[in-house]
Amino acid sequence: MDQGKKITFPLLMSVGTAVIGSLQFGYNTGVINAPQKIIENFINETYLDRYQEPISKSHLTAIWAVAVSMFSVGGIFSAFSVGFFVNRFGRRNSMLLANILAFISAALMGFSKMAKSWEMLIIGRFIVGLYSGLSTGFVPMYVGEISPTSLRGALGTLHQLGIVVGILIAQIFGLEMIMGNADLWPLLLGFIFIPAVIQTALLPLCPESPRFLLINKNEENKAKSVLKKLRGTTDVSADMQEMKEESRQMMREKKVTILELFRSPLYRQPLIISIILQLSQQLSGINAVFYFSTRIFEKAEVPQPVYATIGAGVVNTAFTVVSLFVVERAGRRSLHLLGLMGMAGAAVLMTIALALLEQVKWMSYLSIVAIFAFVAFFEMGPGPIPWFITAELFSQGPRPSAIAVAGFSNWLANFIVGMSFQYIEELCGPYVFIIFTILLLMFFVFTFFKVPETRGRTFDDIAAGFRQTAGGGAFKHPEELNSLGADSQL
Ligand code: GLC
Repeated sequence: MDQGKKITFPLLMSVGTAVIGSLQFGYNTGVINAPQKIIENFINETYLDRYQEPISKSHLTAIWAVAVSMFSVGGIFSAFSVGFFVNRFGRRNSMLLANILAFISAALMGFSKMAKSWEMLIIGRFIVGLYSGLSTGFVPMYVGEISPTSLRGALGTLHQLGIVVGILIAQIFGLEMIMGNADLWPLLLGFIFIPAVIQTALLPLCPESPRFLLINKNEENKAKSVLKKLRGTTDVSADMQEMKEESRQMMREKKVTILELFRSPLYRQPLIISIILQLSQQLSGINAVFYFSTRIFEKAEVPQPVYATIGAGVVNTAFTVVSLFVVERAGRRSLHLLGLMGMAGAAVLMTIALALLEQVKWMSYLSIVAIFAFVAFFEMGPGPIPWFITAELFSQGPRPSAIAVAGFSNWLANFIVGMSFQYIEELCGPYVFIIFTILLLMFFVFTFFKVPETRGRTFDDIAAGFRQTAGGGAFKHPEELNSLGADSQL
């Protein structure tokens, strides 16, 4: 049994290489926060140079908003095409191919100042968004497929760890004394070139997913030898057995298109769960913090808001590590519930801090505590779990399409929060976090009633659980059904 828990070097190296994609996503999420004013100056000067007149305030704001949000527009587009790539080129080679986008984007953004073109910056943001949207599909799928069942949650959380470390690095690099200044900001944005080189060099040394080899390609021997390396043992019969079982199911299912995914009652429940969990991640308001924290702290009259922002990045990373260690013990469902409830509490605290700021001066410190707690609870569940649970809820046939739909929902919600937060904040003032509180409580209720526990269960077992309930009713664990006398094979 212990064998299934072994973390071998090939496994670690494959997961480590894959999550460089997550790191790139996080880096580009966090990188535009600090140097906003400096890059706006560049746009201003370039405009003056071109048109011999200064740019208007509203035009500048619009260009900036487009540059920021083009990233998620790229993600929305590419998340949808994840299925096409992974089925055609395989999981590993898709990740390799995506790096072309990272290189193009690094060049566009890195040379935009030299070329005096903010258009290059905007297109670069869009292209790295394309890369990131693909990564948020490829990485959890690959990691989920190569991990042993007992470590799937912990290793799946490494995707989120890659993201948060990326955000933190970007926050630190973005400090004025490092690269967040008028001379070095092109380097700050073009830095993604380096992780792209590393990933491109290492990926050819990583194996293709054995599930893809066996189930999609029917290459049993190759699948076996990859598994032996990943598991560090010659006896991989249990894993092979399980994959063959999944494969037999798939003969019946075939590849499932996105349209079929929506039509079939078989997939309805896991699909709804996947989408709502992704929405719970984004509509929790987390990116209101990661895009605008400096501004939020400024409003709360925190001295040194940039350092408070980095503090949030540190708390974010620390709690992702905590989640990594508890997710295989506490389970996905309970951690997600705990995270949502904790965030709702922290959002209430934040509202109190902002509302009482005028009367009570130390409220600005309460706002720091509230934001840190908000972020910490996020990383207990709502951060990492939605990313990898979709890969767990579906078997090989519908998995790529399901991940595409889930990723699309995530990026769309990300875009909506990014675009609308500042306007809603103007409307609601200190009460803006109440909206997130209400949403969080709704997601809590949904998770409580609808989301099954997936910890320690094989993909096939999880899928069987949903087949049982395809006709309606609540999800039941197969053992529970057996004890009720139901036919678990259906
Ligand atoms: C999740 C979200 C991402 C967010 C990050 C914060 O990965 O998908 O949008 O910025 O967590 O840690």
